[in-house]
Amino acid sequence: MTKLAAFGQFSTAFRNDFTELMRWRRDVRKFQPIAVNPLALERCLKAFTLAPSVSLTQPWRLVAVKSEAARAAVVGNFKTFNISALSGQDGEAAQSFAAQKLKGLEDAPVQYAVLSDPAASQDHPLDLSSIPQVLEYSVATAIMQFWLALRAEGIGMGWVSRLDQAQLKADLDLPSSWALVGYLCVGYPDHDASEPELQTQGYETRDATLDILDR
Ligand SMILES: Cc1cc2nc3c(=O)[nH]c(=O)nc-3n(C[C@H](O)[C@H](O)[C@H](O)COP(=O)(O)O)c2cc1C
Repeated sequence: MTKLAAFGQFSTAFRNDFTELMRWRRDVRKFQPIAVNPLALERCLKAFTLAPSVSLTQPWRLVAVKSEAARAAVVGNFKTFNISALSGQDGEAAQSFAAQKLKGLEDAPVQYAVLSDPAASQDHPLDLSSIPQVLEYSVATAIMQFWLALRAEGIGMGWVSRLDQAQLKADLDLPSSWALVGYLCVGYPDHDASEPELQTQGYETRDATLDILDR
């Protein structure tokens, strides 16, 4: 087993780099047409096995979407689901972002559907009465670790959520009980960006302040 860093062993330089990594991470929509280094990808996928999950259920289920038929089904799903945005009936921002995401889906060399399996909790049934979505939250947390690990390798990721999930599960032959958490497009970014695309294009602004209520 690898030795863990002793408490407090991470340097100031590492902490600064980590902050920089979070600042620079980006939701990537345009990818270079080159393959992802398989060893780097393997290192990043380890982020899932290291992630926290409610009651250590590890409910993430990853589906590598590789075949031409499966990729075409996802693109078709996206087009149908985002038809109004892609045909110009939605707002300018929705149109622009749907078009960019579509391009990402068409170009990203590596793609994963990431789902949450409710059966992951069956050995020791979870009490979901407080926060029913805890399994999905666990999967989202793992995706976040994966996202940062990818960026540390210079690899980009784009998160697509606007898909018809029943259709996606049917097309990929997945259990209907699984819940889609994200469809991830992975590849080397076409360019670096220091701020979210939505901000660059003037639709939203990242709030650098954090309000915390005191009680
Ligand atoms: C849960 C989740 C779902 C998202 N779904 C979409 C999506 O369906 N389409 C899209 O264009 N971007 C999607 N995004 C990306 C966000 O738009 C993006 O993270 C946000 O604009 C901030 O930009 P940044 O990630 O570059 O900082 C999603 C992000 C998250 C965390």
